[in-house]
Amino acid sequence: MPACRHHLRKATPMPVEFLGIAATNDGSETTPRSGAAFDKDYTLRLARAHEDHGWDRVLFAYGSGSPDPAPAAAYIASRLDRLEILLAHRPNVSYPTFAAKTFATLDQISEGRLTVHFITGGNDHEQGREGDTLTKDERYARTREYIRIVKKIWTTHEPFDHEGAHYRFHDFVSDVFPVQQPRPKVSFGGSSPAAYAAGGAEADIYCLWGEPLAQTAEQIENVKAAAKAAGRTDVPRIQVAFRPVIAPTEELAWEKAHRTVGAIRARREKGEAVTKRHNGHAQPENTGSQRLIAIAEEGERYDRALWTPTAAATGGAGNSNALVGTPETVAQALLDYYDLGVDILSARGYDLLDDAIDFGRYVIPIVREEVAKRDAEREAQREAHRDTERAGRGTQNLAAVHG
Ligand SMILES: Cc1cc2nc3c(=O)[nH]c(=O)nc-3n(C[C@H](O)[C@H](O)[C@H](O)COP(=O)(O)O)c2cc1C
Repeated sequence: MPACRHHLRKATPMPVEFLGIAATNDGSETTPRSGAAFDKDYTLRLARAHEDHGWDRVLFAYGSGSPDPAPAAAYIASRLDRLEILLAHRPNVSYPTFAAKTFATLDQISEGRLTVHFITGGNDHEQGREGDTLTKDERYARTREYIRIVKKIWTTHEPFDHEGAHYRFHDFVSDVFPVQQPRPKVSFGGSSPAAYAAGGAEADIYCLWGEPLAQTAEQIENVKAAAKAAGRTDVPRIQVAFRPVIAPTEELAWEKAHRTVGAIRARREKGEAVTKRHNGHAQPENTGSQRLIAIAEEGERYDRALWTPTAAATGGAGNSNALVGTPETVAQALLDYYDLGVDILSARGYDLLDDAIDFGRYVIPIVREEVAKRDAEREAQREAHRDTERAGRGTQNLAAVHG
């Protein structure tokens, strides 16, 4: 099946990358955390497990009451050598001049390993917890202005003024600059029209939650169209996130998947909050979650290994669709997304630490090897095509000489 989609990928292959989770405690949808919200030792152990098992980057997420991800990320960056950081940040919690300096300082601490994930916020109630009263569409407009300001601060060495709809300041210049030149990458997520417009214009990496291949292809087209509409000649790289459930046999993997969803449902029935950002049992306001619920209502299984009951059981929480099977099956399922144009694969299990190790040991090497093969094949095809064109030109030249 994948072979027919090879042509969809862009001409210059990017290496495939793996994003894991930088949780600050061991809690997940299936298990309440065993200690404090910021468990320093666990934070480091989990990040180190990612670094030691082939992952490229980890996400420090943002929630209104959660530990501040920026100092947690600085801690990890100072203790580990290679692992890159994706720092989630909500514009409503700090002025862009301040945030740009935090990011530049963190890029210095991490020696150029920072990417910033700008979060608009999909839920009014959660945003209101930290004083944000804008509507979602207004928030997207603010995020867009915010990202533009941060990019400008990162790259401008002369004082400048800004007069925008959401921010006004004068004579500002930062004295701290990122290591990465010209600047760290901007990551962005959301599935509403306002999200595509803002992210299509500003993002280097556009993040989607795992959906079936057809719906993912549709979202990729929306992102590309938005980038083009914004006058860009490039397109954001695409990242897609899943919850892999792997085991040595298909049968064991499916048993594990059913146990997982059973544990989530049991916690919800007891009235426990299985996800932090969700507002009880209310219908989600963000399009991304509404899409996940609609897809789950349409069916439980899609494509090679996608399974939706984990999304249904969490009320369409962010990144909640599972990929179930042996490491080989899950790797092949991920490669189907690679063939669609996705080159950053995000994954997180339900036992965060053990699953990060297993996925890194058993799935990542298969995907990397297959991606290298596909890229080599494509390069050979391109070379053959160039040879044919050169030969064609040679014949034409000869014809011109002799004609
Ligand atoms: C990969 C990814 C990570 C996200 N991380 C966070 C997060 O840490 N905190 C948060 O509040 N929202 C997070 N979001 C939510 C989005 O940034 C966005 O605010 C929301 O999905 C908007 O909804 P929309 O689909 O209606 O556009 C994340 C989204 C994606 C795709």
